[in-house]
Amino acid sequence: MADASAPIHPDAAREAAVEKALAALGLDDKTRLLAGQDMWSLPALPAVGLRSLVMSDGPIGVRGVAWSADDPSVALPSPTALAATWDPDLARRAGRLLAQEAHRKGVHVLLAPTVNLHRSPLGGRHFEAYSEDPYLTGETGTGYVRGVQDGGVGTTVKHFVANDAETDRFTVDNVVSPRALREIYLAPFERIVKNAHPWGIMSAYNQVNGSTMTEHRYLQNAVLRGEWGFDGYIVSDWLAARSTVAAVRGGLDVAMPGPKTVYGKALADAVRAGEVEESVVDGAVRNVLRLAARVGVLDGAPPAVGPDDRPEPVDGDALAREIARRSFVLVRNEPVASTGRAALPLDPAAVRKVALSGALARDARVLGGGSAQVFPHHVVPPLDGLAAALPEGVLDYRVGADPNDELVPAEKGFELRAVCYDASGTVLAAAPLHDGTVQWIGDDLPRGVTRETLHSVEITGTFVPRDSGEHVFGTRGTGAFRLTVAGETLYDEVHQVTGSADPGEAFFGNPLERGRTVLTAGEPVEISLRQVPDTLGDDAAIPGVSFSFCHLGPRREPAELIAEAVEAARTADAAVVVVGTTERVESEGFDRTSLKLPGHQDDLVRAVAAVNPHTVVIVNSGSPVELPWRDEVAAVLLGWFPGQEAGHALADVLLGAEEPGGRLPTTWPVELADVPVSNTTPTDGELHYDEGVFVGYRAWDRAGTAPAYPFGHGLGYTTWEYEGLTAAPERVTVRLRNTGTRPGAETVQVYVAPHRRTADRPARRLAGFARAEAAPGESVEVVIPVDRRAYEIWDEEAYDWHFVPGRYEVRAAHSLDDVRLTAAVDIDA
Ligand code: BGC
Repeated sequence: MADASAPIHPDAAREAAVEKALAALGLDDKTRLLAGQDMWSLPALPAVGLRSLVMSDGPIGVRGVAWSADDPSVALPSPTALAATWDPDLARRAGRLLAQEAHRKGVHVLLAPTVNLHRSPLGGRHFEAYSEDPYLTGETGTGYVRGVQDGGVGTTVKHFVANDAETDRFTVDNVVSPRALREIYLAPFERIVKNAHPWGIMSAYNQVNGSTMTEHRYLQNAVLRGEWGFDGYIVSDWLAARSTVAAVRGGLDVAMPGPKTVYGKALADAVRAGEVEESVVDGAVRNVLRLAARVGVLDGAPPAVGPDDRPEPVDGDALAREIARRSFVLVRNEPVASTGRAALPLDPAAVRKVALSGALARDARVLGGGSAQVFPHHVVPPLDGLAAALPEGVLDYRVGADPNDELVPAEKGFELRAVCYDASGTVLAAAPLHDGTVQWIGDDLPRGVTRETLHSVEITGTFVPRDSGEHVFGTRGTGAFRLTVAGETLYDEVHQVTGSADPGEAFFGNPLERGRTVLTAGEPVEISLRQVPDTLGDDAAIPGVSFSFCHLGPRREPAELIAEAVEAARTADAAVVVVGTTERVESEGFDRTSLKLPGHQDDLVRAVAAVNPHTVVIVNSGSPVELPWRDEVAAVLLGWFPGQEAGHALADVLLGAEEPGGRLPTTWPVELADVPVSNTTPTDGELHYDEGVFVGYRAWDRAGTAPAYPFGHGLGYTTWEYEGLTAAPERVTVRLRNTGTRPGAETVQVYVAPHRRTADRPARRLAGFARAEAAPGESVEVVIPVDRRAYEIWDEEAYDWHFVPGRYEVRAAHSLDDVRLTAAVDIDA
């Protein structure tokens, strides 16, 4: 007989509470629960003890429900940077910090991680995905999901699936073979679902093989839920749900955002009309209630993690700095004649002058654009980080080259506020602004203002120019605008966007030039941009107010800027040049067309390197760029989008307090023309993944082309000797010794290569990795589990994984192309 006093397992108690709430709900409430009540939340249903469930982006911080700097968040390095640490435990610590941030902001579910693949370096959200390799992606994502959920906050692994580029993302049909889907694109989702049990998955905008993902019965119901046992909720990407019946039948539980929705009333009507069974709706509601129970917003259900069981609080600034320095990939570090040692680290005691240049050294790009944007409390650019770490007077900064040649929301030198007016011109409220952007989503408006009473918004204040000359002004957003600078009206017209397939375009849009004025440095002028928004009604794709007052300062002659930097570098002990991309080059919403560094940055590097043999280049980009001068400089450090502590982390690494710990999570090409898979533009609505499983290094291997830097590459400040390898099919043991003079960490990588080469199988693949730490002279041993999938292929005819017997070479390696030890293993049938 069951022991009545035995404690009920929390899972069972949660399921019981879910069933009880479900049974008490009527059809209208059920369907209401399946749609956003606004941009970020689901409605509360007090009758069953359910509070409103709040979601937020992700992945590098927790933005919260406001899209503004008023509600700051820790900003960690970009997801590619996190993957470059090759450390799932560090990803887990990142996740725990994010859970802490989520609790602070009243957020229950984080819209992250992004585990799409680096299929093409042109992909606009490349910076937001982890790697070109599904195993590394899956392992990093597993750590991240575990960390967030350790803190009792839900995750939403996205975007399911094959959302690997931005061009026509709302409509594109990605045509992918079943084998490539299984081995490459579904693989990270599968690994994370099976190992980390995420509480949510986000269904993508795109189609896969003819069905839009939010209606994809096979992938959502049969594969994700059926085969893998996923028991969380499936939420649409924002505005990705297009139908009522097909979506709910296809497995989509929640349509976001609201209030305009294909679920809610439309879904209740469909049930009443007999177009869909209520039991299907019940299934979706059950998934949402289970999520609510897990995150603790359903009365009577024990949360997955009680408040007392949450992990120890994390210091966000310190963790952001640690992840950044461990993500930096030192791809080149040559000896320099003046010191007889490698270019890095610099010896802080020996350098008397360091010449720093590059606009991004002063105005660092620390995070990627689009929905991944968060607003950090502070940002430490390289200039400030290095200045703080070096004795006074050592650092000499010159701009050198400024790639920011496009309008951006006004920031430096501006003191702005937003004033809200009703239709009669009466002021309803005023709110300070951190920059030239107003972004109020849904009903998130200044106190005392409603969407009904609001008629127009004015961004107004003063501008004190940093430089004299011709300043360019512009607008971003749609509606009626009136732009005035120093008493002169530069623009007074209505701007609308027509014909864009992306419903977010009207909301986010691009900055457009509206006029120019000559201004004098230091002399303040009044500015004003008044907008009558056309997005206040519930029928707007994203209701609310979104527009910017944009600015671009006077451009100086590129040759003049370079000459100044060269003069400073000529007499310096070392020259550090920071180069990178801009918001107009890398962001969500569009793909890149080139991998070149914008502006005159290549010229700057070449000119500085020509006068200073001790030139170190820092690359501040989210994804690969061409580095045509890479063999002409002493050192190259890839810094990604390094998050808020950029400058401190850079100083740690450049001055040798810490090693740069990163290894490339993605192959870095010499130039775009060499990239084996690059196309992201559909033809007649379809993008064919004709390369099958050959993406990333699998494709480079097949093409036989040498990249600039291979997958897995990255140098530290010490050296390693691999002393022994013992290999069994499921596990390898590697013994290695730190042969250098300082403590260090090595990422031991295991690749598996089938002896019998067939055209349909990649030559080798990553099968495991581990981090080893050792003091100088010390020898350590790491045991690395080997991913069983390294020996398997997806058999399309048998509809199953096929274990391929035979002999395999197991390689213990520093990088894909730096194999240190090998062993043979035989796999039996
Ligand atoms: C993005 C998602 C994001 C959502 C909400 C979409 O445009 O694709 O990744 O979570 O917006 O901001």
